[in-house]
Parts: sequence; structure tokens; C-alpha cells
Amino acid sequence: MACACTWIAAAGSAPPLPPINSYQGKGLRAGYLRCEHLVQPLGLEEPAPRLSWIVESGERGQRQTAYRILVASSADLLDLGFADLWDSTLVPKDDTIDVVYQGKPLKSHQRCYWKVKVWDKDGRESQWSEPAMWSMGLLKAEDWKADWIGYDKPREKMRKEPAAHAMFLPPTAYFRTQFRVEKPVTHATLYATALGLAELHLNGKRICDDFFTPGWTDYSKRVYYRAYDVTGLVQHGDNALGAILADGWFSGYVGYGHRRDLYGKNPRLKAQMHLEFADGSTTEIATDPNWKATTGPIQEADFLQGENYDARQELDNWDQPTCDDSAWEFVNVGTDEVHPLLQPHPGPPVREIQEFRPQSITEPTPGVYVLNLGQNFAGVARLKVRGDTGQKITLRFAERLNPDGTIYTKNLRAARATDVYICKGSGVETWEPRFTFHGFQYVEITGLRHKPARDTVIGIALSSDTPIAAEFACSDPMLNQLRNNIYWTQRANFIDIPTDCPQRDERLGWTGDAQVYVRAASLQTDVQAFFTKWLVDLDEDGQRADGQFPCVAPVKVANDDGGPAWADAGVICPWTIYSVYGDERELAKHYDAMARFIEFCRNRSTPAMLPPAKYHCFGDWLNIQADTPKDIIYTAYFAYSTRLTAQAAEVLGKTQDAAKYNALFDKIRAAFNHAYVAEDGRIKGNTQTCYVLALAFDLVEGEKAKQAAQYLVEDIKNRGWHLSTGFIGTKDLMLVLSKIGRTDVAYRLLHNDTFPSWGFSIRQGATSIWERWDGWTPEKGFQDPGMNSFAHYSFGAVYQWMVDNIGGILRTAPGYKSLLIAPQLDDKLTFANVSYRSNRGLIASDWKRDGGKTRFHITIPANTTALVALPATSAADITESGRALAKAEGVKLVRMEGATALLALGSGEYSFKVAR
Ligand code: BGC
Repeated sequence: MACACTWIAAAGSAPPLPPINSYQGKGLRAGYLRCEHLVQPLGLEEPAPRLSWIVESGERGQRQTAYRILVASSADLLDLGFADLWDSTLVPKDDTIDVVYQGKPLKSHQRCYWKVKVWDKDGRESQWSEPAMWSMGLLKAEDWKADWIGYDKPREKMRKEPAAHAMFLPPTAYFRTQFRVEKPVTHATLYATALGLAELHLNGKRICDDFFTPGWTDYSKRVYYRAYDVTGLVQHGDNALGAILADGWFSGYVGYGHRRDLYGKNPRLKAQMHLEFADGSTTEIATDPNWKATTGPIQEADFLQGENYDARQELDNWDQPTCDDSAWEFVNVGTDEVHPLLQPHPGPPVREIQEFRPQSITEPTPGVYVLNLGQNFAGVARLKVRGDTGQKITLRFAERLNPDGTIYTKNLRAARATDVYICKGSGVETWEPRFTFHGFQYVEITGLRHKPARDTVIGIALSSDTPIAAEFACSDPMLNQLRNNIYWTQRANFIDIPTDCPQRDERLGWTGDAQVYVRAASLQTDVQAFFTKWLVDLDEDGQRADGQFPCVAPVKVANDDGGPAWADAGVICPWTIYSVYGDERELAKHYDAMARFIEFCRNRSTPAMLPPAKYHCFGDWLNIQADTPKDIIYTAYFAYSTRLTAQAAEVLGKTQDAAKYNALFDKIRAAFNHAYVAEDGRIKGNTQTCYVLALAFDLVEGEKAKQAAQYLVEDIKNRGWHLSTGFIGTKDLMLVLSKIGRTDVAYRLLHNDTFPSWGFSIRQGATSIWERWDGWTPEKGFQDPGMNSFAHYSFGAVYQWMVDNIGGILRTAPGYKSLLIAPQLDDKLTFANVSYRSNRGLIASDWKRDGGKTRFHITIPANTTALVALPATSAADITESGRALAKAEGVKLVRMEGATALLALGSGEYSFKVAR
């Protein structure tokens, strides 16, 4: 589902859930059709793609009892009900996700149009769904006719004169070819990839709204291509196909300091257009030695350094057939730098997801204007100016301001993060960079002749286009702001891979951060396809031969030994994605890597399953003077990953493995207790994180668990009801507090606005989640600029607790097939509305205090069931839609558990009122 970029945000509010189909009639209707977890994906290579849909109904207790899928090779055939590729016939099952295509073998370029109908609980047949489609990519290596092409001359020239340049930032190359179309075209599909970043144009138009194609992988191993339907852009007669190729992750500056050319020195482009004609013939237009290249207006383009655009050097009509390219040169062909596998990109593309307009414009020093866009995000600035020929306008970016109102850029470290636009001098000029992004809330603009207008600079947020899955609102504006900050920090960091930060010279796929945040991420947007992609970077391309997982994925830039809690991402992330989306194939795909990792941990541990003398561990990163001993983190995470791997083995029917890893878990747990837990339940290190890890991973039991719980709460209390946890402890702190029955303490931490707390940063004006609890304090100002990002999502992991507790939305089966709705009311909140769009449909839990009563409005997706736990001392105190419980349709009282009524519900919407 594409996020249309039409919503101009008010600062401080995450966008609403976009509507999909919402059927409120009788029986069931199927909609929101997806293939391999994407809407209308093009260019798949999976021979048996999986099909998913959502069923909806206006009735309660609706279930799907059967389905039928038709797949046809054309939209017309499908419309006629002629399923020449596959007719599943009636399948008496309630499956709605990951139904495997079992039709005719699929060929390269094949388009598959499909629809589904379903039968409800009473055997009533639905209408057919709206049709959807997917297409296949280039399935055989020999289908690729295109050469890798590049334009090395300007780069080689620049390399020969290094002293002349402060930094090696070569001009961006433009490529073109022309071709004729003499007969009617029925379909045109363009397949494109690059070692670098490519933007494709056809007959004067950009062919898509994607950014940063083909995304970041370990290019020495694999590179992704994307397929685009360009039928509408092909014209009879002369056509021109063009491309712009920038350095990107392949050869631009990446990671720390001044490192570039990590995968190769010379970017390459590969593109191939497949034309199908009405007479049944086909032809390919592919990159080859006849393509021509030149340089143009983009003087520099780099993720970390920014983009420099000289509009005077624009190439007229370069992407149209009317262009005179006689001065262009022939391209370089081939590459010997890398030989990657070519595959279709499994995830969503990066797109513009939102616009931000300046909320204020100041002039801290004469001629230097600072625009506050109201939200810290990642993306670019769109510039609209009227200037003189050669007038140079410079844009710099920052997350925060210095006390004097100038922009604070020290924390960007070696990232120059500067865009330059040189005016052509012909009326109003609009420009937006294509091959860079910055992490920012503030834009500094210099070189204008007048004060900027409100539309001189517009912020364009870029992010992997993962569909929005959440809505959150409650009576405490601070918590609403917190949710907004988490959402935007995720958006800013999910740019093809999950990164640590979007602004400084780092922006790497840190594994520890990803495992800490993946569950919360899945509650904000649908990240299934996004993580499907990154798990390949991490596991297939990133795992070391000995089984260890890296610090960052794609690897290249940092240590290939992630160490405890970072390397464990290789187990925790696939397991989390499986649990949230119920995708067993994905779990099976990563299982061997998970098991290899556990064997690696076992092999390097002592015979007692304790840490070896030497190993690398980042510790409880950025805690508040409460360092947790590394051996605690090592052993706790070893135990946890082992248990998850045992659970994965169980799901996959590998019973022997399950038994083996369960036994190993028991052994590690015993070792943990023996080595680190004292008789009185004190755990070595005695930090909050020590107790959190032991309780979260069930390493202490019985009396020891009670004591650990008590020490945890005591430590929080002794710190004036404050946390002391870093990345690792914070992930589970709140969840553990609820697990031990101290949701009251969790709420206390959540409502805090004194240091250290989430609220503290919000009180300092945060619009995103900070890397450190003390990123800025009134006493000390900014923390060490060597490491002080204002957009790191790790502490945003608290969003899971917010959904689990404020909304009380809990999954009781993989993929939300069954739910528990158990809102935990809190005295400081008068209402909360929490929604989550699971891959089976919308789940909503709204509650509101109303005089002496509380109202609960609960939505359960069709074809799922839920238990609902309402706070009531007697069932007689509860009504549903004005009726006594016993008379409420589709509601069954299971039992009273103390002051909680446990109700069983089928799907539908319910309005409960509890008198208390
Ligand atoms: C990154 C982190 C990462 C850490 C490892 C930092 O530079 O920004 O988010 O997890 O290093 O300790």
C-alpha cells in the first residue's frame, strides 16, 4: 500500500491509519490482497508465491470456512472467471494469510491476476474480491541481456588530482539510449538495478517515485533489482530511456569518518526493458556498449556529504528522443569489482512519505535563515526559489539549535550534510535532491537575497514505505508526543535497512538496536517485507562462517562479531517476525542460521556454559551509571536465544532439536543461577538490567524470582522512581514490571518527566527518540558530540509496552489468530484509543472513564477470536451495547478472576460499559 504524500503534518502527530476496505455488511468480504506481503508486487522470483487477504464483516462472530482463489494470465480472463493459471477450487479452510500458489509453473515476466471469494460461518458465499496482481521477474540468469555500464572518465580524472579536492565527490553520470517502436505495445516492463543508486527516466518522465534503488546489500554478494510497469510511458515512434547513476552505498561515503568505495570505485547500472507487442512478439532494450554517458547538473551526490546541483548545467531533453547526444561519450562496459547475485528486491521501496512546512523562520545572524520544520525526520528539503544566474544557495541541516539560535551540527561528526543549489536564473526554480538524505528538524539557508517565504523550503520525509499499522491517542499529551517521537524515529531510520541513526557519519544497520526495537516497529507499521529483506543481509550475507552474527548488517563497515545482545538479532528478529506475522516459511529459511549461532555460542562458552575469558560485548549501552556486568548479558542472552531457537524448532516440527535446545537452555539457566545469583536472590551487578534480564528470560524462578522482582522495584524507588537502564535493559524493563504485577511502577516511569525518562526529553522539546537519556540537559547542554544522535529508536521499544498495556492488545497465537484484550487502566489517564492493523485486520481497544463508569469499545477482526479481560468486580456490573452480558450477542462470560471479568468474543465491534 503506497503512502500518498498528501498529508501535510501538524508537528507532533503521527499520521492516521489510512483506510483500506472496510466492509460493514452481512457475511464476509475479502479485501486488501497481498502477494509475498506486498500490494501488487512486480518482478517476483518465488516460484510459489504466497497470497494473503483480510476478511471483513459487519456481523459479529464471523468466520471464514472456505475460500476459492482464481489466478489468470490477464485481467480480462480473470474478469471472465477463466483461471488459466490456477483455480484453487473450494478449499474448506479458514486460512487468509500465506496461501501458497499451486497453479501452472510461472515464467519470466509472467503477469498473474487474481481474486478470492470466501464462505462465512453459515456457508454463505461472498462476492469476488477486487482483483489484484503480481508479476514474475527474470527467473533465469540468461534472461538478463543487459550489461553493467558506467562512466568512469570523470572519476578517473578527479582521482588523478586528489589535492584539488577537499573530498572525493565525483559528478553524477547521466546515461541514455534511443529506440523505435513501430507496432502496438501491450506491455512494457523495466527491470533496473545498480551498483550505486539509479534513477530511471523514459521519454522525459521519471519512471517511478522510488528513491535509492536498488537499496543497500552486501554488493559483493547480492544486489536487488526492481521491476516497473512502464507501458504508459512508451510511445509509438522514437523513445528515449535514460538513467542517472550516483555513488550511494556502493562507492559513496558510508559509516565512520571518511571511508568510501567500500564495495567498488566505479558505480554501474544495469537496466532492461521487456516490450510485448500486440502481435505476440517481444523485444528487449538493454544497457549495452551503445549507450552514451555524460555529466550534468549534479556536481556531487553523497548520502553523508549532501548534493550539489548546478542548474546552469542542466541537460536539455536528455531523457527525450529529441536530445542531441553527439557530444556524449560511449559508456564503460562490465565490471570486475564485484559479481553479485541478482534478485528482485523483497521489501518496499523508499518513498516520500510526508511533507513538513516551516513553523518558524529566524535569522540568527544576518543573511542566515533557520527554518524549524517542527519534526525531526529523515529526508530532504525541496527548494523553491527565484534567483539570478549563478546564485549559490546553501542548505545545511540539524536536529537541534545552539543557544544562540544557530544550527547545532557538531553531532553530525564527519557528515558534511550540506546541499548546494546554483540557480539557472530563469523564473521560479524548484529542486529536490535525489541521492542524499539528512536527519533534521532545522534547515539553515544562506545565499538568498530575501527572507525565505513559507514555501521556499519544504521538508520531504523519506522512508521505506512500510504501511502504517497503528493509531494511538490518550488523554496525556506527553504520551501522544512520545508515540509520535517513536513513529518518526522509526521512519527516519527505516531507509531500506534498519539503521541506528539518520544524521551523523554512521547510519548503519546495527543489529543490537534492531533486535531491541523490532517488536515495537511491527506495532507502528507493517514491517514484514522490510525485515524479510534485512534478514537476508543479516543471516545469509552477514553471518560469519563460524556462526557468529555481526554488529551491523550489511557488514562491511564494522566488526563482524556482534557480541551478546547484538549478534542475538540473528535469532530474535526472525522469531519476532514469525510471531507477529505467522510466517513459517520465513522462520524455516532462517532456522539453520539460528541453530548455527547457538552452536557458535555453545562452542565458545566454557563447559559449564559460562562466558569464555575473552569476548566482545558492548554492554548495556548508554545506561545511567549502572553498568551491568558483561557476563550477565552474555549468559542471559545465550539462554534467551537458545530458548527461542528451541521454540522455532518446535514450530517447524524439529522435535529433536527442540529437546536439545530446551536442555541447553536448562543448563545455561542453571549456570546463570550458580554463577551469578546469590542465596538471597541478589544478582551479580545488582543493576536494574540484571534483574530485568533474569526475569524477562525466566532465568530465576520461585522465591528467587520474587526477590529479584523486589530488588528491581527497590532500585527504581531508590532512584526516586527512575530507571537506570541502557539499550538492553530498557527493551524489557517495562514488560518485566508488568510481568511481576507492578504495572503501577511501569506507569510511574512512563509518566515521569524528570531525568532520566522518556518525558524528560519531551520536556526539552524532543520530537524524536534520543540516543541517550541525557542528549541535552539544562545543566550540561549537549552531551559529547562524538555520540549524540537525536534519532535513535532503541528507547522507543517502550511502544510495545504501551500497546500491550494501555490498549491491552496482546497476541495469543502467531499472526494474531487469537487475541487477548486486557487494557490496564491507570489513574492518570481518562481515555485511550489504541489500534493495530494486524495482517488479519484491524484490532482496536478504546476505553474512556465516564463518571463512575468505564466504557470499552473493542474491535476484533473477522475470522479471529479474543478473550477480553475487563476490570469488574461482578459480571452484573457489565453491559454490552446497553444489554446485560447474558443477552449480549457473541459474548460469553468465561469466568471471574478476582476483580477481572474474562469474556470470550468472536469477531466484531463491542461496546462495554462497566460500572465501578
Ligand atoms: C551506534 C549504536 C550501536 C552502538 C554499539 C553506536 O555507535 O549508534 O546504536 O548499537 O554503537 O554499541
